[in-house]
Amino acid sequence: MHTLPTLILLGPPGSGKGTQAKQLSKKLDYHHLSTGDLLRSESQKETVLGKKIRTYIDHGELVPDEVIVNILLVSMCSRFNSSGIILDGFPRTLHQAELLYNKCGLENTTVILLDVNDEIITKRIIWRRSCEQCGHLYHLKFHPPKIEGKCDLCGGKLFQRPDDLSAVITKRLQIYHKEMPPIVNFYKSHGILIIIRGDQSQTAITASILAQLKGLKLEQ
Ligand code: AP5
Ligand code: MG
Repeated sequence: MHTLPTLILLGPPGSGKGTQAKQLSKKLDYHHLSTGDLLRSESQKETVLGKKIRTYIDHGELVPDEVIVNILLVSMCSRFNSSGIILDGFPRTLHQAELLYNKCGLENTTVILLDVNDEIITKRIIWRRSCEQCGHLYHLKFHPPKIEGKCDLCGGKLFQRPDDLSAVITKRLQIYHKEMPPIVNFYKSHGILIIIRGDQSQTAITASILAQLKGLKLEQ
């Protein structure tokens, strides 16, 4: 198993985990592993597993632990040509946190919780659009594309995730509020949890995270 420094990004749906992971992976040269992206890619395959995953995601439900752990561990065991790993969207249950702990320990691991309230979350998610080609994230109010419906970076088509509809967002938030407290307590008890206000600008959040990591000497 890897011994690379690992940064775990926790936070509710729409708190900015993906946005921050993309920035931090460039700045720190860390490999970005998003379980949501891995699952969405798997769910596009017309296989039994792909269809099963799609049903969970589209209803805002968590994919069963054994499915996600297999998919993630395959990715985590790959050899990365990077200085570390960012986990975005994992763990989502205490069981997942314990599995990761048993497999990798917590040495070299820092956990960042992006703290954002439900009202802001809902506004962020409803207006989110993603590029189907390069995955770049937009917000139609705060960070709109220059040309409507097109990615500024690669010209790809922008789409809205099926789980970004308001009824599904409510469900995702309910699950988050049920599952996250024991995970937060788990990492708090190991003394590796840092809470960052996620209602600041994207650049202010990135700067806060980097400043915290610098304090821990994980960033030069
Ligand atoms: P996943 O893809 O991980 O979704 P999520 O956790 O619900 O989080 P999001 O991707 O919706 O939000 P984000 O925090 O990345 O925010 P973003 O940066 O996009 O998971 C999807 C599904 O897969 C789950 O529901 C589940 O079914 C399954 N799944 C995934 N992992 C699993 C696991 N471990 N176990 C079981 N099932 C799993 O930002 C949101 C918007 O806000 C964007 O428009 C962005 O531009 C904007 N924004 C970001 N930061 C700011 C800011 N500071 N100010 C203003 N706007 C901002
Ligand atoms: Mg995301």
